[in-house]
Amino acid sequence: MSHVDLVDDVREVGTAVLETLAAHIETARTGAGEVVSSADIDTVAKRLELRRWIEEGGMTLPELLSFVTTYSDISAGHHHPGYMAHQIAPSDTPGVVADLLQAMTNNIPLVYELAPAAAAVDRAVCRWMLDNVGWGATGLGAMTNGGTLGNLTALLAARSHADATAWRDGNPGDLVIFAPATSHYSVRKAAAVMGLGERGVYPLRTDALGRIDPAELEPALAEVRAQGKRPVAVVANGCATGTGLYDPIAEVAQFCEDNGLWFHVDGAHGAAALISPRHRGLLAGIERADSTVWDGHKMLRTSALCTGVLFREKRYLDTMFKQDASYLYRPEAEDVDPGQYTFETSKAPLGLKILLTLAYRGEASLRSYVERQYGLATDLWELIQERADFTAPYQPQSNILCFRYEPWGDRQLELRSRLIQDGRFYLSSFALGGRPYLRAALMSPTTDRQTLNDLLEVIVKVAEA
Ligand SMILES: Cc1ncc(COP(=O)(O)O)c(C=O)c1O
Repeated sequence: MSHVDLVDDVREVGTAVLETLAAHIETARTGAGEVVSSADIDTVAKRLELRRWIEEGGMTLPELLSFVTTYSDISAGHHHPGYMAHQIAPSDTPGVVADLLQAMTNNIPLVYELAPAAAAVDRAVCRWMLDNVGWGATGLGAMTNGGTLGNLTALLAARSHADATAWRDGNPGDLVIFAPATSHYSVRKAAAVMGLGERGVYPLRTDALGRIDPAELEPALAEVRAQGKRPVAVVANGCATGTGLYDPIAEVAQFCEDNGLWFHVDGAHGAAALISPRHRGLLAGIERADSTVWDGHKMLRTSALCTGVLFREKRYLDTMFKQDASYLYRPEAEDVDPGQYTFETSKAPLGLKILLTLAYRGEASLRSYVERQYGLATDLWELIQERADFTAPYQPQSNILCFRYEPWGDRQLELRSRLIQDGRFYLSSFALGGRPYLRAALMSPTTDRQTLNDLLEVIVKVAEA
């Protein structure tokens, strides 16, 4: 492909690529082809002819289309009914349009004047999220690149709340974050980045399913205080990555209020339940927390990445992030300059993906997606109850369920590898109570109860093969 300006060839190339991708996803939706390739990285590099393209260039349009097809064939098919592995949204048209709009305008909502439309959209989307949490009147939100950065941002605010000098002077060395071992590893990463060290996360004792036991909060706080340490925050799962179960949020909120502690709810996956009257109760008490994160690229069907980091009080962000950069920031515009509220400098207008999803599909469509997928995990649980060869340790609360094929005991990971080789289904795994489980995260809109029945049958066949 020779170098020409965007407008000269984007119509021809764009239309052809879109047609190729749409046809590929259409096929994946029927369940044809492998859910994900199990080829090794060198084989994949060869199939994509990566050396050739890097060293020689010269790709023609037909070669580009062939590259796009091979790339898609090798990639995990999130629209495939057998895709049940990780919490990544099967992207939808509005998110794709948002990405296209961003790719063509390349506006960066760093300062308002640089990207007025993008900054206004991000603010409106954060407002929608805040309203859903119950913080519309007092809160502040920012769009950021993923739940990992969102958790870091929220915990940085919690640290400033615990010690107002920490942002300027560095970590004082006596700070501790409380979180159950089932919290996402980004909480430990954040602690390490903040200078608390991974060991600065106190692992809260939980029930057998990894949920915070509220009775254990008091002794944990007493123990930490007796060691002369200061608590930064309590982190609860809403819901936990591994099990999809929600911590008792209202009880943790009560404890935090009683003890003046910052309360952070990691809602990266499960905050989407807020838009469903049927499931909203799982997050009861979240409005009493201080911060939360909510990923659009999980249950709101946007492409990655798209996260809201949300705070109950606007003032929580006053002591952080703000920088003097005379070429960029003007004090009078501080309120509308998104770059003064997150860790990133340049970032895409992430809220656009949610805005267009709400506008084009409607909140009701997102609600039915969340309810449908949550219902599927219950379907899987019910199917398992009817059989003697499978067990599931709990009734699901979201679209995630851990289960085991009992005849294979603790060899579930080997079974999972065999299943991936087979190509029809893609599951993840999780160690619960030290034992390995198969884990289904039911994200695809084409998975149905029959697919789940087929899954169990295929597991048996693959195990016997
Ligand atoms: C509960 C929870 N928190 C945080 C994260 C990290 O989010 P991201 O992958 O968007 O950085 C995940 C990812 O699975 C998650 O499930």
